[in-house]
Amino acid sequence: MRKNIVAGNWKMNNDLKATRKLVKQIRKSIKKSNLNTTRVIVAPTFVNLATAVKRSKKSKVEVAAQNMHQANSGAFTGEISAEMLKSVGVKTVILGHSERRAYFNETDALLAEKVNTALAHKLEIIFCFGEELADRKSGNEEAVVGSQIKNALFHLGSDAFKKVILAYEPVWAIGTGETASPEQAQDMHAFIRKTLADKYGNEVADSVSILYGGSVKPGNAKEIFSKPDVDGGLIGGAALNAKDFYAIISAF
Ligand code: PGA
Repeated sequence: MRKNIVAGNWKMNNDLKATRKLVKQIRKSIKKSNLNTTRVIVAPTFVNLATAVKRSKKSKVEVAAQNMHQANSGAFTGEISAEMLKSVGVKTVILGHSERRAYFNETDALLAEKVNTALAHKLEIIFCFGEELADRKSGNEEAVVGSQIKNALFHLGSDAFKKVILAYEPVWAIGTGETASPEQAQDMHAFIRKTLADKYGNEVADSVSILYGGSVKPGNAKEIFSKPDVDGGLIGGAALNAKDFYAIISAF
């Protein structure tokens, strides 16, 4: 059975002190609740990963990185490797976020390399993709999303693919306050699952969690998460506030 997942992408927010505080607040809030079927993940910035891992020990909070480099090591000033993430206790990495694609020129081909490196180091992946507004306006959203998935992931075998969590994040809904309607999210998630089933079969397609991301808030999470092919969310802005994040987690 696939898991429900709520993951907070903190982006370039929260210094050391704020990281400690937010992890503590989230830990405390979820302690009271019965989270048997829901995973809770936070993704702080690189410099605060070790602290977040330490502060989330013996709790249901898991820690992910927001990115990593495709090479194992070497002369890549300013970059972070999979092994480094592992060495501080990180088990999951977000790859392909639209901000990485747009501002740091990350292409499908580069992301395929990062995917291989992450899996070679036994890191779980939250793989992000999504169409831009122009794609949706021209009715090309499925073609765009289909090719993003195929180009970066379809070289993987079935077993490797099961280590990937997918996050559909329409670019026009990220940080804009604009959300895909629950129906738009469900339609796309159903298309994604069918694309997976065509390639890997139903067993794999049914086991992969597909998250929705883009202006998920306490007020809309319940309706979005109630859709059959939506298995949770990747949350930006609302993940920076413990109360809002907890309200979203509780939406399941
Ligand atoms: P948002 O960001 O919730 O602030 O729209 C989502 C994301 O970028 O993952």
